[in-house]
Amino acid sequence: MKSVLDFAKWKERGQRISMVTCYDSTFAKILSASGVDCVLVGDSVAMTIHGHADTLAATPDLMALHVAAVRKGAPEKFIVGDMPFLAHRGSLDATLGAVAKIMQAGAQAVKIEGVKGSEPTLAHIVDSGVPVMGHLGLTPQSLHALGGFKVQATDERAAEWLLAQARAVEHSGCFALVLECVPSDVARFVTDNIRIPTIGIGAGPHTSGQVLVLQDLLGLNTDFKPKFVRKYLDGATLVKEALDRFDKDVKTGEFPTPKESF
Ligand code: KIV
Repeated sequence: MKSVLDFAKWKERGQRISMVTCYDSTFAKILSASGVDCVLVGDSVAMTIHGHADTLAATPDLMALHVAAVRKGAPEKFIVGDMPFLAHRGSLDATLGAVAKIMQAGAQAVKIEGVKGSEPTLAHIVDSGVPVMGHLGLTPQSLHALGGFKVQATDERAAEWLLAQARAVEHSGCFALVLECVPSDVARFVTDNIRIPTIGIGAGPHTSGQVLVLQDLLGLNTDFKPKFVRKYLDGATLVKEALDRFDKDVKTGEFPTPKESF
């Protein structure tokens, strides 16, 4: 099984890191047979699985439920569980309670969006023995403060500020950093100026690794077509075709055959 120590080695060797989101044990089982390095149980579960318009509806209990399902399907994979909306911004007790739920459900690390004002909390979680992955750039939990899902750090000043934030993430003891929706040259600038690996989504090719949402990668989410997603399967079409074939076979009496019956 991979550990946080591998992330440092991968960056040192220039070995690119692959991370994919997952929320259930069926897909986790398939993922566990793949070469993907790391599984993220993202708070995108609120959108992808539960149909919300944003990630704000995710709670520590919901995250723990999905982490537990993914751990059952992928017992050998390195699993990161997202700390959901505001879960690390209240009291330290409440923060550690949320971290405990996610870790006890089977994660090996938590991911936390943003760092400004949270440096001592992040350091405390790390010092408590829990690996933390940072997340900067477009931080979807702050969508209302950011004015929507928009590319971040688009000018020089914002790029410098992003680097300062990335350094704060590193100094807090985080082992890796997700960079979401920032220009490629800014992602390279940050990656080249911190020691921990960066994992990009919509951040171009110069990060230490890449992450995609499983349903986007499999083409299951037909309403979501951002520039940064590569569809490796036309999943929605294939699933619909299978369902239509089943429907036809039921209606024509072709299913089930005697071989498929007791
Ligand atoms: O919740 C999520 O899926 C994420 C990825 C987009 C990085 O945070």
